[in-house]
Amino acid sequence: MKIKFVFALLAAALSLAACSAAATPVPTPTPDPFILQGQAVFNARCATCHALVPDTIIIGPSLNGIATRAETRVAGQDAEEYITLSILRPGDYVVEGFNNVMITNLAKEVTSEDMNALVAFLMTLK
Ligand code: HEC
Repeated sequence: MKIKFVFALLAAALSLAACSAAATPVPTPTPDPFILQGQAVFNARCATCHALVPDTIIIGPSLNGIATRAETRVAGQDAEEYITLSILRPGDYVVEGFNNVMITNLAKEVTSEDMNALVAFLMTLK
């Protein structure tokens, strides 16, 4: 009886710990599974055209520092909005010196969770 009670407490404590871990803000040295999921989406869908090291053009511009740059791109859009729109409607704002050749059907091809993870990953690239 007593052991069961301790076990229930332990299980409750563990699930609480899991909840608070998920709510922790992003930039931590420990890899966040959601960010890693976003990085995997990036590697599968974006890395063919975008490098993450500075000043390296593949087909698109390097996304090094995109979370910082994104804030300055379009008046009225914060970094997260700009990054999301850059993926969903890349033709809205075309980076100077580049052509609008980005795929536009990503929203139909990946789950919204993958999409959110991808944006969360890009938001770590300060
Ligand atoms: C076929 C090549 C190609 C692929 C694949 C591609 N992009 Fe792009 N991307 C570009 C080009 C070219 C530009 C610059 C022109 C423009 O702004 O649309 C760009 C621009 C961007 C920008 C704006 C950068 C800035 O400095 O403002 C973001 C953010 C971006 N891409 C994210 C992504 C993400 C995330 C993916 C994967 C889902 C992706 N791209 C896939 C070619 C690509």
